[in-house]
Amino acid sequence: MIEVGTKVPDITFKTRVRDESIEGDNPFTWQDVTTADLFSEKRVVLFALPGAFTPTCSTFQLPGFDDLYSDFQNAGVDEIYCLSVNDSFVMNKWADWAKVRNVKMIPDGSGLFTSAIGMMVDKDNLGFGFRSWRYALLLNDGIVEQAFIEPGFTDNAEDDPYGESDPAAVLNYITGESPVKPKGKQLTLDLEDGIMNKDKLGAN
Ligand code: BEZ
Repeated sequence: MIEVGTKVPDITFKTRVRDESIEGDNPFTWQDVTTADLFSEKRVVLFALPGAFTPTCSTFQLPGFDDLYSDFQNAGVDEIYCLSVNDSFVMNKWADWAKVRNVKMIPDGSGLFTSAIGMMVDKDNLGFGFRSWRYALLLNDGIVEQAFIEPGFTDNAEDDPYGESDPAAVLNYITGESPVKPKGKQLTLDLEDGIMNKDKLGAN
C-alpha cells in the first residue's frame, strides 16, 4: 500500500477527448495522459473510489470535492483528480451526469495505477471484479505528502467506509484546521440493501 514520502508510479491512462476536427456525431478521439502530465510540478489531491455512479461516490465524494474546489485552491492545491477503475467512456459520462465543473476524471480502466500503488481490492461479492479501495492522496510533484485511506482495506469487504477521504476532512488537514489527521465521520454503506445507513455515523 502506498505510503507518505513515496513517488507514485509512471502510468499512462487512455482518455477520450473532444476533437473538433472530427466530423459527425462522435467528435472524440483517444489521448494518452501520463502521471507526469497530471502530477509533475503541481500540488494535487487525488481521490479514488470503487466505481463511477455508485451512491456514496456520486452523492457525497465527487460533488463534495467539486464544490470545495476553490477552497482547495486557496489552500494551495492546483488540481483535484477523481480516479476509478472504469474506462474513459464511463468516467466522462459520470462527470457529465454529475455536472462536474472542476474535478478532473482519471480513467484507470485496466487498474494499472491502482494495482501499482497496492490499492486494488476484489469486489467480486458485488459483481464489480477488481476495483480501487477508497482513499485520497495529497501529492506534491507526484510524491505522497499525506494519505487518507479508509480503514478495513480488504477483498470482498462487507461495508464501504467513508470518512478519512471525505472532502472536508482532507481540506481541514491541508488548511491545518485539524493539525492531527482527522478521523472524519465513518459513514458506512449497508451493502445488503444498498442504502446509506445514517445510523452508522460514528463520532469524530
Ligand atoms: C458507493 O460508493 O456507494 C458504493 C461503492 C461500492 C459498492 C457499492 C456502493
